[in-house]
Amino acid sequence: MTISFDNAAQVMTPPEPGLRYLRSHRANEIALEPGGVTVEHGRIAAVEPTTDADIHVDAAGCALLPGLVDCHTHLPFAGWRANEYEQKVMGVPYEEIARAGGGIRSSARALRETADETVLAQAQELAGEMLRSGTTTFECKSGYGLSTPGELRSLQLATELSQIVSQVTTRTALLAHAVPDGYTTATWMDEVEQMLPEALEHAKALDIFVESIAFGLDDLDRMGALATNNGVNLRAHVEQFTTMRSIAVALKHDARSLDHLSAIHPDDIAPLGASDTAAVLLPGAEFMGAEATAPARDLIDAGAIVVLATDGNPGTSPIFSLPLIVGLGVRRYGLSTREALLAVTLNAAYVLDLHGELGSIELDKRADLVLLDCPAEHIAYRLGRNPVAATFVGGEPAYVRPDAAWRIAEK
Ligand code: NIG
Ligand code: FE
Repeated sequence: MTISFDNAAQVMTPPEPGLRYLRSHRANEIALEPGGVTVEHGRIAAVEPTTDADIHVDAAGCALLPGLVDCHTHLPFAGWRANEYEQKVMGVPYEEIARAGGGIRSSARALRETADETVLAQAQELAGEMLRSGTTTFECKSGYGLSTPGELRSLQLATELSQIVSQVTTRTALLAHAVPDGYTTATWMDEVEQMLPEALEHAKALDIFVESIAFGLDDLDRMGALATNNGVNLRAHVEQFTTMRSIAVALKHDARSLDHLSAIHPDDIAPLGASDTAAVLLPGAEFMGAEATAPARDLIDAGAIVVLATDGNPGTSPIFSLPLIVGLGVRRYGLSTREALLAVTLNAAYVLDLHGELGSIELDKRADLVLLDCPAEHIAYRLGRNPVAATFVGGEPAYVRPDAAWRIAEK
C-alpha cells in the first residue's frame, strides 16, 4: 500500500541522512519546509508526495513530523499518588514523603497488590493517550518491583504491554530505584547481579537512581560495569535533587543517557557536553516538583545531545503528553522549536538505540509520522492544547482525530 502526504506546510527533516544523533547546537540545520512524504509498505519511500498512491493525506496547513519518541517513562505501574501531590504542593519535600513510606515504596506496594490484567489495562490506556498525543515509540522501565520477583514481573509485564499497544516499545531494567527494606545499597547490588541474566531477557538497558535517598556513586560504578560486561547500555537518574557529582563516573562507563540533571554541578557540564552521552531533561518532573531548572542552554553550548521526555510515573511526573513536555521545555529552558523537536525525535531515538530505524523523516526509516493541525511553533505556544490530528505507526493510521478524518482519502 502506498500513502502520499500531500501539500504539508512543514515537513521536518534532518540536515543529513544516517545521523545517530544531532548535537543540539546544530538544531537550526533541521528543515521545516513545505512538502510531502510517500510511504510504501510501512517505510518512507520518498521525502516528496506522489500522485500514484492508494491513500492521499491532505496535509494543507499542517506540520508533518517524525513520530514522537518518549525515551523515559516508568510504565507499567499501578494506580496513582494524587494525595502525595497535594502534600508536595503544600510544601512537604519529596525526600520526606519518600522517607515516610510514600514515593517509590508506595507504588511498589500498589504494584504488588494489583493483578497483572489491571496493571496492563492501566498501561494500555495510557499508551492510547500517548498515541493521541503523537507518541509512536516509548520506553518502559521496571523499578517498582523492589524485589527480585517483583522486578522480573514488572519486566515481564512490560514485554506483554509491547504486544498489546500500537507503538514500538523498549524495556529498561531500573533495578536500583529505591533500596528495599532489609538491604544496604551494596547488598541490594549483589541481588541485582544475581537477577541480571533473567532481567536482560527482557531489557536492553540498565538504569539506577543516584540520589541521597537512593543509590550512591559506588553503586553507579558497579551498575556501569554490569552494563558493559553484559553488552547493554547504561542509563541513570542523576543530579535530580542533590548534586552528587555522578557525571564523571557515568561517563567512564559510556552511559547512553543521564536523566534529570536539575542539580548538575557547573564543572560537569563541559565533559557531558563533549561526550556521546545524551542529557535527558525532564521538565514535567521539574515543574510538578518545583525542582531546580536544568541548565539546558549551558549544556547545548557545551555541545550536548539534549533530549526531552515525560518521565511519566505516578509520583514526580504523571504527564504522558510530549507536546506538553515540549511546551514546558521551550519555556523553562529557552529552547527553539527545532531544539525541542529534535529532543523528542532523533535524539530520543538515539537514547533508545533505535536511531537507525526511526526518529527522523528519511528514506527507508519506519513511517512513524505525526500530523499536526498547525505549524510546529504552535506546539509550545498554545500550551496544553493537543495539536495532533493523526498519528501513523509503521505507515498505518493508528489514530485519527474525528475532525481530521476528511484529510485521509482512499483513491
Ligand atoms: O524519575 N527519580 C526517581 N524516579 C522517578 C520517580 C519515581 C516515583 O516517584 O515514583 C523519577 O522522577
Ligand atoms: Fe524517571
